[in-house]
Amino acid sequence: MRMVDMIAKKRDGKELTPEEIQFVVNGYVSNEIPDYQMSAFLMAVYFQGMSHAETAQLTLAMASSGDRIDLSTIDGIKVDKHSTGGVGDTTSIILAPLVAALGIPVAKMSGRGLGHTGGTIDKLEAIPGYRAEVSEEEFIRLVNQNKLAIVGQSGNLAPADKMIYGLRDVTATVNSIPLIASSIMSKKIAAGADAIVLDVKTGSGAFMKKFEDARLLANTMVEIGNQVGRKTMAVISDMSQPLGNAIGNALEVKEGIETLQGRGPADLTELCLVLGSKMIVLAEKAESEKEARELLEKVMKSGEALQVFKQFLAAQGGDVSVVDNPEKLPKAVYQIPVASPENGYVSAIKADEIGTAAMLLGAGRVTKESDIDLSVGVMLHKKIGDRVHSGESIATIHSNVQNVSTVMEKIVKAYRFSKEKIDQIPLIRG
Ligand code: URA
Ligand code: CA
Repeated sequence: MRMVDMIAKKRDGKELTPEEIQFVVNGYVSNEIPDYQMSAFLMAVYFQGMSHAETAQLTLAMASSGDRIDLSTIDGIKVDKHSTGGVGDTTSIILAPLVAALGIPVAKMSGRGLGHTGGTIDKLEAIPGYRAEVSEEEFIRLVNQNKLAIVGQSGNLAPADKMIYGLRDVTATVNSIPLIASSIMSKKIAAGADAIVLDVKTGSGAFMKKFEDARLLANTMVEIGNQVGRKTMAVISDMSQPLGNAIGNALEVKEGIETLQGRGPADLTELCLVLGSKMIVLAEKAESEKEARELLEKVMKSGEALQVFKQFLAAQGGDVSVVDNPEKLPKAVYQIPVASPENGYVSAIKADEIGTAAMLLGAGRVTKESDIDLSVGVMLHKKIGDRVHSGESIATIHSNVQNVSTVMEKIVKAYRFSKEKIDQIPLIRG
C-alpha cells in the first residue's frame, strides 16, 4: 500500500477498507508516513467525510495504538461519561461520586485542559494534596476499595489520537465530525469502559454551534460505541451560556461540592441528574431513567454522595477538610464586580467569550506548557432570563492582578440584554 493512493481515494470520495485505515494510522504512528501526507489525508476526510464503518475502524485503530486499560478485575459494569467540552463544565466532579454512591464502579481517567479553564484533573488539583498520578495497579485497587478513583490519563493512551489531534490543530481540520467522533471514542475505548454516556454540547460555547451538527456528532459516536460493543447513549445539552455560575478551577470545585450537597445551580444540578440517570440505567442498577433519578436524588439528599467524594479525596491524598471549609481552596487576591450596562433581561451570554475572559485571568492554558492559576476565574450572578438593573452586579472577576479592564470589557460584551421578558433556553436539547 502507498499513502498517496489512500489520499487520492479519500479525495475522490471513495470508502477505505479496514486494512487501508489501519495502514494509515499505523504508518503515521510509526513515523513512516510524514506529516505532509497525513495533513493532506485529514483535509480529504474533512471535505469528503467518512462512513460509519470507516469511522468505527479509525476509532479502533487509534484505540489500539497504545496502552489499553484492563478494568476486568473490577466487579460490575464500568460506565464512563464524556463531554465534548464547554465552558464552566464541572459535571465530572459531581457525577462521579453521585454514581459511585449507588455502588457503580467509576474508574475515571481525565485529561488536563487546553483551553478556557483546566480539565477535571487541573480542577481537582486545586484541592491541597490531591494526587492525580497513580499507577494502574493502584488505580484499580482504589476503585475496588472506594468505587471511585479519578486519575490523570496514562501518557500512552491512544498516542495516535495525540499525534493526529496535534496535526489537526494546525491544519484547520479539527472541526470534522468523523475526526472528532473517532478522537473522543478512541480514548474512551482504550480507557476500558463497558458503557459510555456522552454529553454533546451545542451553542456558542461548543464545538458544534448548530443543533443539527451536534445531533450528527452524537449519532456518529453512539453508532461507533455500539459497533465496537460498548453500550453508548448521548444527551445533547445547551452551551449557549456557561453551565452553572463558576468558571475557573477552584471556583468550580467549590460549586461542585455545593452541588453534591444539593445546593448547586439549577442547570448544573439538572444536567448531572440527567447524565447520571443514563449511567445508572446502563449499569443496570435501575429499570428506568425515572427510577434512576430518584436514586440519585436520594444519595444527594442523604449526604452519601458527599461521603464517597470525601473517601475518594482522602485515598488520593487530598485535604478532606476543604469540603466543609471551601475557604481553604486557593483564593484570588481581588474580587471585582462587573456592573450591568443596561436595564432589562439577560438574553444571551456568549459562553466562549466568558471562557476567554477566564483564560486571560490565567485559569486556562494558552499552550501545552503554560501554568494555570487555580484561584482565578469568573462567577456569574445573572443567567439568561434574569432581570437586571443598570449598575447591578452581573458577575464577579476573581483575579490576582488589579487591572482587569480587558477582562471586564469581554464579560460586558459577552452579555446581551433585551427590554422584553426572555424565556429560558431548555438545557436538554435532545
Ligand atoms: N475533543 C477531543 O478529544 N477530540 C476532538 O477532536 C475534539 C474534542
Ligand atoms: Ca460551572
